[in-house]
Amino acid sequence: MSAFPVDGDGRVDVLACMQDPPTMDDPYPLYAWLRENSPVHPNPTGGVYFISRHQEARLVMRDPAFRSLTREELRAKQPRIGRSRTLQNFLAGITNTNRPEHTRLRRAMSPFFTPQAVEALRGTAQRWCDRLFDPVVARLRDGQSVDLHTEVTAPLAVQVMAELIGVPEADRSSLAPLVSRTLGAAHPTADDTALREADEATLAIEEYFTGLAAERRLRPRADAVSALASGSGGGGGSGGGGDGGAALGQAELINMLWGLWMAGSDSTAAAMDNATLEVIRFPRAARAALADPDGEKAAGFVEECLRHEPPIWMAASQLVPVQDVELAGTTIPRGAGVHVLIGSVNRDPAVFPDPDRFDPARGAPGYLTFGEGIHRCVGAGLARMEIAVYLSRLHAHLPGLVLAGPPVRRRKATQRSFDRLPVALPTDPAVRPAAPRQTPRHLSKESERA
Ligand code: HEM
Repeated sequence: MSAFPVDGDGRVDVLACMQDPPTMDDPYPLYAWLRENSPVHPNPTGGVYFISRHQEARLVMRDPAFRSLTREELRAKQPRIGRSRTLQNFLAGITNTNRPEHTRLRRAMSPFFTPQAVEALRGTAQRWCDRLFDPVVARLRDGQSVDLHTEVTAPLAVQVMAELIGVPEADRSSLAPLVSRTLGAAHPTADDTALREADEATLAIEEYFTGLAAERRLRPRADAVSALASGSGGGGGSGGGGDGGAALGQAELINMLWGLWMAGSDSTAAAMDNATLEVIRFPRAARAALADPDGEKAAGFVEECLRHEPPIWMAASQLVPVQDVELAGTTIPRGAGVHVLIGSVNRDPAVFPDPDRFDPARGAPGYLTFGEGIHRCVGAGLARMEIAVYLSRLHAHLPGLVLAGPPVRRRKATQRSFDRLPVALPTDPAVRPAAPRQTPRHLSKESERA
C-alpha cells in the first residue's frame, strides 16, 4: 500500500496529493510509485487520468487520437470558469485550441521566437542581468543576505519579456506584479476572493495592452506588439476564420499579449530559481560546467537543470482521447481528461538512467519540460538563452553562493516555483566550501558533500 493520500477504497488520489504540502515539497516518491504501479492512473476523483511515464506521455501529447479540450468543453465541466474573466482568458488562449485554429495563432506568435529573434535578445538579457546583479553583489559582499528571486530572477524574466513585447521601461514595474495576482486564479482551490483579485489584475493588463496596441498601430516600432497589432483584423474578435493565416481579431490580439505576458515571465524565473538551487547543491559540477559559459558543458548544465527540476510539473492543456484508447493496459474512455505529469516523465528510469541523479553530462535531452507535440512551448529557446545568461553571470559574480535560509516555495500544485530565495556568500570561503547552510528536506538527499 502506498503512503500517499487515498480515497475510501484505498485508491491513490493524485489531485489530493497535489494539495498535500509534504508531497508538494517532494513529489518524487509519488511519481515513482505511479510509474511503477499505475502509469496510466484513473484518479478516484475529478474523472481524470494521470500519465507518469515517458513513453505514454509522448504518445498522448503527439498522437492525433488525443486533442485539447476546447474552451466550451472546459467551461461546461467547471462552472467556476463562468465566474472568472481570468479563467476565461486562460481558456481562450492557444493551449486550449486544436488545428486549424491552433496553427493560425501559433503562426502569429512564432516570428518572435525564432533562433534569430532569441539571439537578438541576448544582449538585453546580459545587460539586465548585470544591472540587477550589481547592487546584489555589493550587498552580498558586505555580508548581507539577498532574496535572489525578488531581486534578480523575477525582474530579469519580466524585463526580457517586456523588451520582446515592446512594453516601455517606465510601465514595467506596475505591470510586473499583476502576473502573480493573475496566476492566483489558476490554483484548483482558488476561492471567490482569489478569483476577484485575479480578475482585477487581468482587467488592468488587458486595458494596458489595449492602449499600447492602439498606440503602436499609429506609431509602430520593432516589437511584437506593433507587428501583432498592425497585422490584426482590428475588432470583431473572431480572427481569420481558421484558414491558417496569421490575422488576429482585437480580442485575440489582447488575449495573446496577456498570455505571452503571463507565460513568459513566471516559469522562466522559476527555472532560474531551480537552477540556482542546483548550483548550490552541486557546486563542483557547476564550477566545472559554468567556467566556460559558451561551451558544451554549460549548455549541458542548463539542460540537466531543466530535466531534473522542471518549473512546470503538469502540462496546462487537458487532453482527451477522441475515441476509447488502451494505454499500458488501462482503457481511457473517449472524452476523459488526461494530464501528463512532466516532473515524473523527466525522471522515468526507462529513458534517464539513474534519473534522480543530477548529471550535466547526460547529453541528448528528451525531457518534456517544454511539453511535446503541437503545444510544445514556443518560448523554449528564449527560456534556455535567459537561463544560460543568468547562470554564467551567477557563476562569474557569485561563486560559492550558499542558502541564507530555506527557500519559500510557492504553494502551487502544478509548479515548482518560489516566492523567495534567500542567499548569502560564505563568511570565509577558505574554510567554508560551497555547501548550503541550510538544506531543505527535498534538497537534502543528493547534495554534493563537497
Ligand atoms: C523555463 C520556462 C518555461 C517552461 C518550463 C515552459 C513550459 C511550457 C509547457 C510545458 C508548455 C506546453 C503546455 C501544454 O502542453 O499544455 C508551454 C507552452 C507554451 N509556452 Fe512555455 N514555458 C517556458 C517559457 C516560456 C516563455 C519564455 C514563453 C514566451 C512567451 C512561453 C510561451 C508559451 C506558449 C505561448 C505556449 C503555448 C504553445 C501552444 O499551445 O502552441 N513559455 N510552455
